[in-house]
Amino acid sequence: MEEETSNVPPPHVLIFPLPAQGHVNSMLKLAELLALSGLHVTFLNTDYNQDRLFRHTNVQARFGGFPGFQFKIIPDGLPVEHPRGGDHFYEMFKSMNLVTKPLLREMLVSSKLQYYDDSGSITANNIRSGPVNCIIADGILTFPIDVGNELGIPVIHFRTISACAFWIYFSVPDMDEAGELPNITSGKEDMDRIITRVPGMETFLRCRDLPNVNRIGLQENPLQLIGELTRQSTRAHALIFNTFEDLERPVLSHIRTHCPQIYTIGPLHALLKHKLGSKTTTLAVQSQSSNSLFQEDRNCITWLDAQPLKSVIYVSFGSLAKMTKYEMREFWYGLIHSKKRFLWVIRADMVDGKDEDGQIQVELVEGTKERGYMAEWVPQEEVLAHPAVGGFFTHSGWNSTIESIIAGVPMICWPYFADQQVNSRFVSEVWKLGMDMKDVCDRVVVEKMVNDLMAKRREEFIKSTDTMARLARESVSEGGYSYCNLERLIEDIRLMSTVGEK
Ligand code: UDX
Repeated sequence: MEEETSNVPPPHVLIFPLPAQGHVNSMLKLAELLALSGLHVTFLNTDYNQDRLFRHTNVQARFGGFPGFQFKIIPDGLPVEHPRGGDHFYEMFKSMNLVTKPLLREMLVSSKLQYYDDSGSITANNIRSGPVNCIIADGILTFPIDVGNELGIPVIHFRTISACAFWIYFSVPDMDEAGELPNITSGKEDMDRIITRVPGMETFLRCRDLPNVNRIGLQENPLQLIGELTRQSTRAHALIFNTFEDLERPVLSHIRTHCPQIYTIGPLHALLKHKLGSKTTTLAVQSQSSNSLFQEDRNCITWLDAQPLKSVIYVSFGSLAKMTKYEMREFWYGLIHSKKRFLWVIRADMVDGKDEDGQIQVELVEGTKERGYMAEWVPQEEVLAHPAVGGFFTHSGWNSTIESIIAGVPMICWPYFADQQVNSRFVSEVWKLGMDMKDVCDRVVVEKMVNDLMAKRREEFIKSTDTMARLARESVSEGGYSYCNLERLIEDIRLMSTVGEK
């Protein structure tokens, strides 16, 4: 940690994620990296999420060690019992624009984001923070740009999705103008039709690879709305992506023509591990670094320890995706019939709907006892890095994808919504890191894909995953692009605070 050498406090950065697991996770990693470099950081959670984060992790103790770091809360405007995920996601988004925006403004105008100890004085632990010099806001939230612009505070947008998904969102108005957007609800659309209006993707992007935003509870023109919202990022001071240049260089060069100031600093969790690395053992870092909003089942690691090398397929669909009972059963049969070992995460709120099949078959129960482990939530980074894990059946959330890439684990993709449809196409068609099973849920296909990934086509995928994992590691090592971009970001934030002083 860099020491404070003068009486002038270091720059004060406000980090504000969208309140969802993937967003909070990656933005907390960034917060930790900035705090490690000596900046003062305020991390703004919704009260709903802060409660979960504090309940399930040791973040308070972990971040308590950074001088000038604080967690603050802001309401999302919804009652506690509101589900917030799946097709209720957009309700939260709308509520934040209405309720959270004025509260954020008020927080910045008053001195509420400066440090107070219990007695109300402005010096806590002898650390005194200045006003916020820079806001790093989730790139899906546009109101922090309005507030920042009004108050003269630079706002950097952190888009937690891939650059390729961002570029597709950004290109929606062009696709719309050319009449290329599919009419999904008509039932008559040829979903394999090629989209030609996304520069750089003219040969492989099909209608079915466009983000499925119908599943977030937005009724009218959801894709157009997300497209317009994405273009707002051009109003931000700069853009951050949790990606690395070697993975997404061509797409990044297209984005740079609209948003010239981009910091690619991913894979963030690996960059953080690298920065913390020399101070403690890898295992200690992993077990102490959870940012989970769910209770982790650490017994899965003991189970993994007992499995042969690369023998287990890890199955998880992230923090928001839902599936029906029918779909769950198809997966279950497919996994059991593949005869491969599996570790399967099924969140308590994940499975909906009726089960026509009735009783759970003995075959499934016995097969799971023999070769499977089911959990409600696991320490995923640690699971992906475990020697027993040889494949990942994923929903293609961006964090999961990039975590899998640096761990060198090939993927089968079953995307649920939004950016996931895009990521899965890139994993299979562009990066050749696995297979895409989108829009299909059939036990025979699951069985075949698992066997292909874990055995039949394994060599083919491992060649690409090994290469990409090496490039990812290089990017976060000293002198690598992501490593240097983080230094540049910190330097630029320091400059912003000195400009503010003049
Ligand atoms: C979705 C996205 O598709 C993502 O790209 C977008 O930015 C946010 O919304 P989510 O479903 O949360 O996100 O998926 P993902 O981005 O993969 O993030 C899930 C995070 O939870 C990962 O960091 C993963 O390591 C962690 N996780 C998941 C666990 O720690 N344990 C688990 O059991 C499952």
